[in-house]
Amino acid sequence: MSAAVQARPAAPGAGTGRVVWLTGLSGAGKSTLASALHAELRSRGVPTELLDGDAVRENLSKGLGFSRADRDTNVRRIAFVAGLLAKHGVTVLVSAISPYADTRREVLAGLPGALEVFVDAPLEVVTARDVKGLYLRALAGEIPHFTGVSDPYEAPQQPDLHLRTDQISVEEGVARLLGALEL
Ligand code: PPS
Repeated sequence: MSAAVQARPAAPGAGTGRVVWLTGLSGAGKSTLASALHAELRSRGVPTELLDGDAVRENLSKGLGFSRADRDTNVRRIAFVAGLLAKHGVTVLVSAISPYADTRREVLAGLPGALEVFVDAPLEVVTARDVKGLYLRALAGEIPHFTGVSDPYEAPQQPDLHLRTDQISVEEGVARLLGALEL
């Protein structure tokens, strides 16, 4: 990949919204943090939209699976829509596992001022939480290519924000996200 593709534009143009890209394992708390931040931004009158992995896969990415190619297509589609919304001044909260570091780098490079947020909880913690019962099934071999179990998750090495959701509350996470957005 060329250096030009990897460069992260520093700041959005005037009137452009920010993209907050939450990446992390299933069950790490991406959607919880994104919805709480969404509610807070709305209460402050900030135009904002949520692009959540599960909802995107029911609509924009319907039919895609969890191979690397399909995940990358999903992530690029989300980034495309996020970019359009941001151009119109919307603060876009993306919540998607987006497991591949190169693909995140590529899409974030096209989103000026985007923040990469690592929503992090150890695999033992998300497995114990097992909010959707998916880890139990994945560990039993019933779900192939399950991130963290039978498929890779490449953690961000230098995220703009690193939130350990097993150590901080949702309120603290939102406060740190607002801080990163300088709000
Ligand atoms: S990706 O990798 O960014 O394209 O994934 P994403 O669009 O965020 O979708 C993740 C949600 O899909 C469910 N699910 C799986 N996740 C990971 N691996 C496999 N194989 C899988 N199969 C289904 C799961 O509910 C994820 O939701 P979250 O919100 O992350 O828990």
